[in-house]
Amino acid sequence: MAKQILLPLLSLVLVFFFPTISAQTSAQAPAPAGPTNITKILEKAGQFTTLIKILQATQVADRINAQLNNSNQGLTILAPTDNAFSNLKAGTLNSINSQQQLQLVQFHILPTLYTMSQFQTASNPLHTQAGNSDDGQFPMNVTTSGNQVNITTGVVTATVANTIYSDNQLAVYQVDKVLLPMALFGAAPTAAPAPAPTKPEKNVQASDAPSGTSDTSVDTSGVIGLNRQAIEGGAFIIAVITMTASYLGL
Ligand SMILES: *[C@@H]1O[C@H](CO)[C@@H](O)[C@H](O)[C@H]1NC(C)=O
Ligand SMILES: *[C@@H]1O[C@H](CO)[C@@H](O)[C@H](O)[C@H]1NC(C)=O
Ligand SMILES: *[C@@H]1O[C@H](CO)[C@@H](O)[C@H](O)[C@H]1NC(C)=O
Ligand SMILES: *[C@@H]1O[C@H](CO)[C@@H](O)[C@H](O)[C@H]1NC(C)=O
Repeated sequence: MAKQILLPLLSLVLVFFFPTISAQTSAQAPAPAGPTNITKILEKAGQFTTLIKILQATQVADRINAQLNNSNQGLTILAPTDNAFSNLKAGTLNSINSQQQLQLVQFHILPTLYTMSQFQTASNPLHTQAGNSDDGQFPMNVTTSGNQVNITTGVVTATVANTIYSDNQLAVYQVDKVLLPMALFGAAPTAAPAPAPTKPEKNVQASDAPSGTSDTSVDTSGVIGLNRQAIEGGAFIIAVITMTASYLGL
């Protein structure tokens, strides 16, 4: 008689409760792919150590990651190799102040996702994150011939060598030259421009910086907390059944 009550009860517990526990446990098990990390992408590709340094020094790496994580807006990054940087005339990077270095980096980022074939139909000048290309301050033109894609700034012509990374939001292409914008390097191609020694505008860089990534750990502990509740709940029910069983003398 008691057995007839208890067995259906036990199978109810097994059928309904354990799947709940295992579902919650396995939901946390597969490590999430994580948000796109431009530094990681460039590290993996190799030969971009200078670009990585500049992206980090200007906090643009953080901004790119935040932008990719927080919006559906596409990005295209034109990544000059270490070789491209070492081919610059000596002192080129030191001839500009930190605000201009930020502009130089932003000039390599297009706020649109371009596939290789979309470059062929893009209309010039392309927009970059450095500023408005329409006023001619930061023009960047693309010329294509077959599969070959060139980028012209009015100061240099670079060739898009190959695709380092692409998904439905981000494309990273290797370029063989640092893209020097007209606004910073157009006036005097031979003599280094001598910008007025303005104060480093740290505020401009810091203001847009993402405010931290601690949310992930909070989320994780929440999941663990839920699971613990579920497991404790399971243990409690099993204990009750065991007690009932022994009370009934099974
Ligand atoms: C991105 O990757 C770099 C290098 O692998 C690492 O140092 C950095 O912490 C990562 N950033 C985030 C937000 O995960
Ligand atoms: C990514 O976006 C989510 C949701 O907007 C946010 O909770 C999380 O903190 C962001 N992660 C990073 C690394 O920015
Ligand atoms: C791209 O640039 C290279 C080197 O400057 C040049 O030989 C080639 O003709 C250019 N191609 C296009 C499509 O502009
Ligand atoms: C870029 O293209 C625009 C529009 O075709 C043109 O007016 C401009 O002179 C070009 N600039 C460079 C540097 O090639």
